[in-house]
Amino acid sequence: MKTPKLLLSFLCAGLLSAGASLSAADKPLSVGFSQIGAESGWRTANTDSIKAEAAKRGIDLKFADAQQKQENQIKALRSFIAQGVDVIAFSPVVETGWEPVLKEIKSAGIPVVLSDRAVKVSDPSLFVTFIGSDFVEEGRRAGEWLAKKTGGKAVIAELVGTPGSAPAIDRKKGFEEVLAKNPGMKIVKSQSGNFTRAEGKQVMEAFLKSPDAKQITALFAHNDDMALGAIQAIEEAGLKPGKDIIIVSIDGVKGAFEAMAAGKLNCTVECNPQIGPQLFDLIAKVAAGQKVPARVAVQEGVFDETQAAAELPNRKY
Ligand code: AHR
Repeated sequence: MKTPKLLLSFLCAGLLSAGASLSAADKPLSVGFSQIGAESGWRTANTDSIKAEAAKRGIDLKFADAQQKQENQIKALRSFIAQGVDVIAFSPVVETGWEPVLKEIKSAGIPVVLSDRAVKVSDPSLFVTFIGSDFVEEGRRAGEWLAKKTGGKAVIAELVGTPGSAPAIDRKKGFEEVLAKNPGMKIVKSQSGNFTRAEGKQVMEAFLKSPDAKQITALFAHNDDMALGAIQAIEEAGLKPGKDIIIVSIDGVKGAFEAMAAGKLNCTVECNPQIGPQLFDLIAKVAAGQKVPARVAVQEGVFDETQAAAELPNRKY
């Protein structure tokens, strides 16, 4: 049962008058976290990891879901300033447009930790540290796997992540680095599916309806959710995903392993969302004024269809 607010204040007043006061050290650390949304299985696992770790550590977490809108994230960041939290952390939906609000946070003397995605700012002192994956490397890994699988010959359709987001920009960059070394591999279709399964399906349907659809031999999806949507579109078009069209994607969610075990997806490059423990280690150090590295990387691997069945029981997200 919830204790009514009024009763609580009487109890507190009683305690304080009896000489018991809450020292700053007894106060739980308060952290404002602005999450992008719930666009993918990856994001849901990331949110779960952050909330579970905060609860485990007794952190007063003020969590806000921005429903994939930068304006909502900016509002949430301003409300964290107003609430006077100890540390602000957030996963920026896109890379640019953060400078004004970051300056406001800096003026309020609140340290900022970036989680999962980076920002582009001219003043690096606007945030303390960034913990997240190396998205360029993930794109490279996807490209290298595809080059090996196809002997360097592929006509590729690309499902891009949210326009302007760090993973969409960096994964494309890493993948294209590999294409530059493999002249037999080229991207013939490229469009955003916004990291969601529904849009991944829609865009793949459009790709497959285009007059030159027959030449597509491979799909690079910037995340598993879009790949899973595309698999549905490929099947509905009467083709065999994983065979008629070789598919490589990024994240390593359970659904991707199930699709690999069923022979419908060929490879997923891991992007680990379970960064709650590492994130709060970092936040604790930042709050204590300790020195932290400017960039903290997350360890990840690459899994293909030959490893899917064995790895599936180990997947936690
Ligand atoms: O920023 C990480 C990316 O965001 C994940 O790959 C994607 O699934 C998510 O929505």
